[in-house]
Amino acid sequence: MGLLKVVAFSLSLLLFVAVVTGIGVNWGTQASHPLPPSTVVRMLVDNGFQKVKLFDADSSILNALSKSGLQVMVGIPNDMLSALANSVQAAENWVATNVSSHISSNSVDIRYVAVGNEPFLETYNGSYIGLTLPALQNIQAALIKAGLSTQVKVTVPLNADVYQSSTNIPSDGDFRSNTKDTMLQIVEFLSNNGAPFTVNIYPFISLYEQPSFPVEFAFFDGSSTPVNDGGKVYTNVFDANHDTLVWALQKNGYGNMSIIVGEIGWPTDGDKNANLNYSQRFNQGFMSRIKDGKGTPLIPVAMDAYLFSLIDEDAKSIQPGNFERHWGLFTFDGQPKYQLSLGTTHSNGLIAAKGVQYLSQKWCVMTPSASLDDPQVVPSVSYACANADCTSLGYGTSCGNLDAQQNISYAFNDYYQLQNQLDTACRFPNISTVVTQNPSVGTCKFGIMIKTDSASLQSAAPRKPAGLMLLLMSAFLYSIM
Ligand SMILES: *[C@@H]1O[C@H](CO)[C@@H](O)[C@H](O)[C@H]1NC(C)=O
Ligand SMILES: *[C@@H]1O[C@H](CO)[C@@H](O)[C@H](O)[C@H]1NC(C)=O
Ligand SMILES: *[C@@H]1O[C@H](CO)[C@@H](O)[C@H](O)[C@H]1NC(C)=O
Ligand SMILES: *[C@@H]1O[C@H](CO)[C@@H](O)[C@H](O)[C@H]1NC(C)=O
Ligand SMILES: *[C@@H]1O[C@H](CO)[C@@H](O)[C@H](O)[C@H]1NC(C)=O
Ligand SMILES: *[C@@H]1O[C@H](CO)[C@@H](O)[C@H](O)[C@H]1NC(C)=O
Repeated sequence: MGLLKVVAFSLSLLLFVAVVTGIGVNWGTQASHPLPPSTVVRMLVDNGFQKVKLFDADSSILNALSKSGLQVMVGIPNDMLSALANSVQAAENWVATNVSSHISSNSVDIRYVAVGNEPFLETYNGSYIGLTLPALQNIQAALIKAGLSTQVKVTVPLNADVYQSSTNIPSDGDFRSNTKDTMLQIVEFLSNNGAPFTVNIYPFISLYEQPSFPVEFAFFDGSSTPVNDGGKVYTNVFDANHDTLVWALQKNGYGNMSIIVGEIGWPTDGDKNANLNYSQRFNQGFMSRIKDGKGTPLIPVAMDAYLFSLIDEDAKSIQPGNFERHWGLFTFDGQPKYQLSLGTTHSNGLIAAKGVQYLSQKWCVMTPSASLDDPQVVPSVSYACANADCTSLGYGTSCGNLDAQQNISYAFNDYYQLQNQLDTACRFPNISTVVTQNPSVGTCKFGIMIKTDSASLQSAAPRKPAGLMLLLMSAFLYSIM
C-alpha cells in the first residue's frame, strides 16, 4: 500500500468522528450466588458507568435497569440462534418480550441487541457460522416491525480471530479466509442498517497462550519496542489488533464502519499473569485513554468500549483457563479489587456494592490434628474442588504460596461457603472442622459467602471462552523480536 493511499485512508477516518461518551461494562451472571440485580444497578450508577452489556435478556435484570439512566445492550445466547434464524415469528416474539415491552412499559434504555456471543470461535466447530446472519436479519426485521430500528441497533460481538494479518502488521489485516465470505455478508448487513461492528480484544490471552509474548507490549504504558506501520506507531497489542480490524474493514469497502470494543479487561487470579498489579495497570491504562477521548493510531477519537467485567463469576466454565472466574473489577460480593479511576465520579477509586449481606463469620478448615496422610484427604479435596472453586490455588495465584494443610483448608472452605455454610458441608470424615477465626493467609482470602434470596447451586451453562485467540499476536511477537 502506497504512502499516499495510507494518508488518504487516515484522513477519511479522521472525518468519521463518532461522538461517544462514557464507559460501559459487561454484567455476566454465571455465579453461584449472584448479587441482587438492584444492588448491582446501584453499583453501576454509583461508579458512573453509562452503559451495560448483558449476555441475555433476563427480565429481573432489565426490571432493575428501569429508569436507571444506563444504556443497555441485551444479548441473545448462541443456543438461541438456531431458533431465531429459522423463524421470523420466534424473532418477533424475542423482540416483543425482551426489547419492546421493556422499552415501552419499563423505561429501559435498550440501545443494542447482541445477536450471539463470539459465535465464530473455533471451539464451536463452525456450528453457528450459517445461523448468525439469518438470526441477525430476523431480529432486525422484528425491530423494524416493532418501530424500534432507529433507536435499537443489532450487532454481533465477535472474537478477534475473525481477522488476521499475514505479515503481522495492521495494514496487512483482512478477514480470515475460512469465514471471510460470511463475515463480509454480516458486515454488509450491519453497514446497511447503520449498525456497529463489535469485537472483543484480549491482550491477556495473547500472553497466556504465548508465554514468550513480550509482556510490555500487552500494556498501554509498556516499554516494548514500537511497531511502525507506515507512520502509525504501535506501542501495544490492543492498538495493533484494533487497527488490523480497521484495515480489514477498509479493504473490503467498510472503512467508515463504527467499531464497539465489546469486551476488554484483565483477570486477577488463576494464572501467573493474572494478578492485581497487571489487571490494574492494564485497566487503568485503558481507562486513561477513554478519559482522554483518545482512540487508536488509526481512529484517534473516543472509543466505545465495555470493560470485562463487572463482577467475578464463580460458575463459569474454566475450559479456557483457571483465570476465567476472575475477570471482575469487583469480587463476587461487589468489593473493588483495587483502586481504579474511571474518571466518571469524584471518587478516585471504585465504589463498593451497598447493603451486601453476609453469612456468619465461620470457615471450614482441615482439622489441625488431622494427618496429611489420612486416606480421606485426597478424595475429600477432589470432591471439594470438583464442586466448588479451587482456581485460586496453583502456581502464581493468590493462594499459590499456601502449605499443604492450608491448601486443603482452602478447598474445604470454598465448598462450605458455596453450600451456604451447611453443617453437613464441613464433614469431610474426621479431617474438617468449623472455625470462627479468619484463616486467610496474606493475599489468599478465605471467603465468607453472601446471602442471596435464591442461592441457586445449579451450575450455570458454561459460557464459552471470552475472546480466545489472537493468532495475530503471536505473530507480532516474532516480528518484534
Ligand atoms: C427473552 O430472553 C430470555 C432470556 O435470555 C429468554 O429465556 C426468553 O426465551 C426470551 N423470550 C423469547 C420470547 O424468546
Ligand atoms: C467440536 O469438535 C470436537 C472434536 O470433534 C468435539 O469434541 C466438541 O465437542 C465439538 N464442540 C462443539 C461445540 O460442537
Ligand atoms: C460514511 O458514514 C456517513 C455517516 O455515518 C455516511 O453518510 C456516508 O455515506 C458513509 N460513507 C461511506 C462511503 O460509506
Ligand atoms: C505489585 O506491585 C508492587 C509495587 O510495584 C509490588 O511491591 C508487588 O510485589 C507487586 N505484586 C505482585 C503480585 O506482583
Ligand atoms: C495446592 O493445591 C494446588 C491445586 O490443587 C496444587 O497444584 C498445589 O500443588 C498444592 N500445593 C501444596 C503445597 O500442596
Ligand atoms: C474417624 O476417627 C475415628 C476415631 O479416631 C475412627 O474410629 C473412624 O474410623 C474414623 N472415620 C473415618 C471415616 O476415617
